[in-house]
Amino acid sequence: MEEKQKVLIVDDEPRNQRILFETLEDLVELKAASSGEEALSLIEEFQPDLILLDIMLPGLDGYEVCKAVRANGKTSFTKVLLISGKAMIDERLKGYEVGADDYMTKPFVSEELLAKVKVFLRLTLVERHLNDLNIRLDEKVHEKTQQLLESEAKLISAAKMSALGEMAGGIAHEINTPLGTIALISSQIREFLTEDPINREAVTGLTIVVDETVERIDKIIRGLRSFSRDGGQDPIQSISVKHVLEETMNLCREKIKQSRVQLMETPIPDDLLVLCRPVQLSQVLLNLIGNACDAVENVENKWIQLEAERDGSSIRISITDSGGGIPPGTQEKMFQPFFTTKEIGKGTGLGLSISKGIIEAHHGSLNIDNQCKNTRFIVLLPAGAPVHVKAA
Ligand SMILES: Nc1ncnc2c1ncn2[C@@H]1O[C@H](COP(=O)(O)OP(=O)(O)OP(=O)(O)O)[C@@H](O)[C@H]1O
Ligand SMILES: [Mg+2]
Repeated sequence: MEEKQKVLIVDDEPRNQRILFETLEDLVELKAASSGEEALSLIEEFQPDLILLDIMLPGLDGYEVCKAVRANGKTSFTKVLLISGKAMIDERLKGYEVGADDYMTKPFVSEELLAKVKVFLRLTLVERHLNDLNIRLDEKVHEKTQQLLESEAKLISAAKMSALGEMAGGIAHEINTPLGTIALISSQIREFLTEDPINREAVTGLTIVVDETVERIDKIIRGLRSFSRDGGQDPIQSISVKHVLEETMNLCREKIKQSRVQLMETPIPDDLLVLCRPVQLSQVLLNLIGNACDAVENVENKWIQLEAERDGSSIRISITDSGGGIPPGTQEKMFQPFFTTKEIGKGTGLGLSISKGIIEAHHGSLNIDNQCKNTRFIVLLPAGAPVHVKAA
């Protein structure tokens, strides 16, 4: 059986209480209070759906009880029907002002009261139902948002893995070249060792080159390690643009060379500082350079140019390639996830959308520069503050 709805009668006259009881007892679960104070404590424990509230009460009057009901978050669905012997318009308006839902004057016709009570009880049912739906909807939205965030994180890591895979070939070159250098030096050292007397100076010189080459490999591996980290939780720091670009180039210089692309690097001043998570900025630059490399694959004159400069309170990093710009149709879509013009298996189409997300999370922007007759992407990021501020 469905639970009965609850109505609280607040009236100090036993006769009135009785009439109300008789009118409603078949329909609802009832309780009665004879004063404002008693009403308030009963409301707490009984949690009625509707209160039939007399205005003239000993102690706290009906208006004050109504105000307290409205101020209490637990009774926000409770309906209040004021009942009074007086029917002055001012009184009624005051009732609405303190939050009553309706007003009836005594003496009332029982059938009308019953009809009104039914209307309000139906209203509370609908409101509670709507509220439940809302709560469930909120939970659903929360759950879906959580799922979206999770799948986004998975996509990002998938994209990064694919970028890593693509880079693996490149990295092999990055490391092969210095390894070749070491192998060559080793055979040179062996030759020197057969001479008598041994040219110690030459051998020492060669070992220094070995040390430098080992350091280069070490740098590549360190860069690779940091690239494969997420980096999204790293603190934003003020860091030299030149340093971030060098670390990035350590991971793709050889690939660029192998693709026979000429790399033009405009010298960057040491004191140009940018506010960023270095690992993430490096990931963005690698994406943009990777795109540039792909874009010039079939261009006769292949080059990529990297520039960085201060622009007001921002740092502008431009990556330009010798391609002839991007057609408007592609431009509209290229920042959307999964948009790619590359063959299946080559591109995920996530590079630019993830890069844009990263840069915007840095309060920066990533855009294409249509003023340029070649293809130029511009990363704008807040400039970093120098650590040592000179006294004025
Ligand atoms: N420098 C560029 N020159 C010409 N077109 C570009 C350039 N950079 C991006 N695009 C276009 O934008 C598309 C989307 O680039 P995005 O980096 O998001 O994905 P992708 O490179 O195709 O795939 P992934 O980055 O996963 O390898 C590319 O497929 C290409 O059509
Ligand atoms: Mg890409």
